[in-house]
Formats: sequence, C-alpha cells, structure tokens
Amino acid sequence: MKTILLTGAAGFIGSNTASALLDRGDVVIGVDNLNDYYDPARKQSNLEEVRAGAPDPSNFVFYESDIRDEAAMEAIFAEHEPESIIHLAAMAGVRASMDDPRLYFDVKPFHGDAANHNTRRRIETAPPKSSRAKACWNSSAVR
Ligand SMILES: NC(=O)c1ccc[n+]([C@@H]2O[C@H](COP(=O)([O-])OP(=O)(O)OC[C@H]3O[C@@H](n4cnc5c(N)ncnc54)[C@H](O)[C@@H]3O)[C@@H](O)[C@H]2O)c1
Repeated sequence: MKTILLTGAAGFIGSNTASALLDRGDVVIGVDNLNDYYDPARKQSNLEEVRAGAPDPSNFVFYESDIRDEAAMEAIFAEHEPESIIHLAAMAGVRASMDDPRLYFDVKPFHGDAANHNTRRRIETAPPKSSRAKACWNSSAVR
C-alpha cells in the first residue's frame, strides 16, 4: 500500500487513475480545483464514481484546491507525506492555450515558473522519508 498524491483527480484521466490505484489498495490524495474549463458537475460526478467504486472509500482523500496555491500544497504534503506523485492537473487541450496562454503555461507541469513551483519542487527533490519516491506526469506536458 502506497500513499500517492494525484493532481487533476477529478478529471477524465485523473479520476480513472484514482479508481485504479484504490482498486489495488493504495491511498490516494486527490487535488483538483474543479475549474469550469468544462462543466464542473462532470468532475463532481467523476469524484462520486471514484468514491462509490472504491473498495475502501476512506482511502480516497480529496482536496478542492489549486496546485498553484503553495501554502495549501505544503499543508497537503506535510499531512500525508506521499511516496509518489502523479501529476495530471492541466488545462488540457489546445483551446486553453489559445484563450489564455499564461494560464496554460502556469498549470502545465514543468512549464510554469513561479506558479506551480511547489509541486514542481517537490517532484524534483522527492518527498521526505522515502527512498522509493516516484513521480510521473502527463505525457503531453514533457519537453
Ligand atoms: N484525455 C486524453 O485523451 C489525453 C491524452 C493524452 C494526454 N492527456 C493529458 O493528460 C492530462 C489530463 O487530461 P484529462 O483529459 O484528464 O483532462 P481534464 O481536463 O479532464 O483533467 C484535468 C484536471 O485538472 C484540473 N486542474 C486544472 N488546473 C488545475 C489547477 N491549477 N489546480 C488543480 N487542478 C487543476 C481540472 O479541474 C481537471 O479536473 C492533460 O495534461 C492532457 O493534456 C490527455
């Protein structure tokens, strides 16, 4: 059993990832700001499906929070000390990048500068108390 921080947990890929991890017995700490890039009701519904399908719903902890909120992320890391991070929070798709390029760059992992700094730093330095720390992120964001 591992404790895994999952950003973008209410999204399409994030929610399916959460379910897969819970099925295999991991503890999932989900973070998502439930923004309105598409209908937030869809994201709430994704979260309900994750909870309903979880063998042990108490293994799913969800924070409605923005990954750019450094204080909030710091508190989450301190509280849960995740062994692994799966970074899927993003403004997915080309429309977001056309309408608001700054936002797109801020949220996409490893593209933002000051914004997204905390998650990025944590991934780069690895969570404390773990020699098996792993991180992965969505493929479309790698450069
Ligand atoms: N869906 C696909 O077929 C596909 C294919 C290849 C790569 N990807 C990549 O995988 C990633 C996830 O895609 P998806 O389809 O699940 O998108 P999605 O929009 O359904 O999920 C992304 C989630 O991130 C959240 N989010 C955005 N900004 C945030 C912030 N600042 N703080 C916290 N949460 C935030 C959103 O609310 C959303 O729930 C994207 O980077 C996408 O480009 C998706």
